[in-house]
Amino acid sequence: MLVLGIESSCDETAASVVSDGTEALSNVIASQIDVHGKYGGIVPEIASRKHMEAIIPVTQQALDDAGVSMGDIEGIAVTRGPGLVGSLLVGLSTAKAMAFAAGIPFVGVNHIVGHIAAIFLTGKRPDFPFTALVVSGGHTHIYLVSGFGDFTILGQTRDDAAGEAFDKAARMLNLGYPGGVVIDRLAKEGNPAAVTFPRAMKGSVDFSFSGLKTALLNYIKGRKEPISKDNVPDIVASYQEAIVDVLVGKTLKITEDISIPRVVVCGGVASNSRLRERFFEEGERMGIEIFIPPPVLCTDNAAMIAVAGNSLLCDGRRDGLDLNAVSRWPLD
Ligand code: KG4
Ligand code: ZN
Repeated sequence: MLVLGIESSCDETAASVVSDGTEALSNVIASQIDVHGKYGGIVPEIASRKHMEAIIPVTQQALDDAGVSMGDIEGIAVTRGPGLVGSLLVGLSTAKAMAFAAGIPFVGVNHIVGHIAAIFLTGKRPDFPFTALVVSGGHTHIYLVSGFGDFTILGQTRDDAAGEAFDKAARMLNLGYPGGVVIDRLAKEGNPAAVTFPRAMKGSVDFSFSGLKTALLNYIKGRKEPISKDNVPDIVASYQEAIVDVLVGKTLKITEDISIPRVVVCGGVASNSRLRERFFEEGERMGIEIFIPPPVLCTDNAAMIAVAGNSLLCDGRRDGLDLNAVSRWPLD
């Protein structure tokens, strides 16, 4: 079955054609980073307008790259939430119109389920059950995934998401937006033990990153000399290590405690090179198999939405033209 996926929940307009829920024939992503960069974060109104400009060319490109036309597509999967409602509505309305015109079904997909489903586009697919750490700009959640659509929440952040912690630190240090990518790059030249940052909520299944953010602010304010370019790699390497330590430590501990032998790590932050390295190292040490999609499938894309939608369509799910976008959509 060929499914067209459409994603517009945040600042990426994306479309993809996926075959049988396992092979991406195309994966087109139009990023708005340049537009929002100068504001230091996403401006929702601008995001919606940019999605409107990009959605048709991006969708057409996805069909062209896959070498197919709308007549070959058997269903459309579109992100319904969670995300920015104005942005979501652009993708959702487009999907509805295209499905109506082509006389094919469409389904609304949960963006987080999409992030988890991305792993099925890789050559190394996990068996169920597995635990999944979803780490993105809005999420830091650990789930027990017993099947497609069968999720139990095991732990979550009580305040900021890990991606937010990266983005806010980059803003405090004037490193630009989005912060995760810049910090990942600069941290490679720094010493992760140079500055001591807190590891919050030891012993709990939940995460907290707001104290870490405050610790960085206090560190910046408390320095005798202003931060120079040479200090930045050590600071961000130490800050990144504090985030990575808790993400890896808690996820593997929870997974071991419930005797699950495999973990999927996904979402934008899962493209972080240090996080990937630490998960593989410690997973091997603990005998837990680690599954992480390649970076391009960790950050927002539409191929992951098509995979999740393919499973819903195969189960007979159909949504109506009255389906609305939702800013919040808890998984369990
Ligand atoms: O999944 P995603 O693309 O969008 C959301 O659903 O939120 O995740 C975006 C988040 C941003 O906070 C960004 O800074 C972070 O993922 N991110 C990274 C890296 N690449 C993206 N964080 C750390 N290291 C990276 N290499
Ligand atoms: Zn995402």
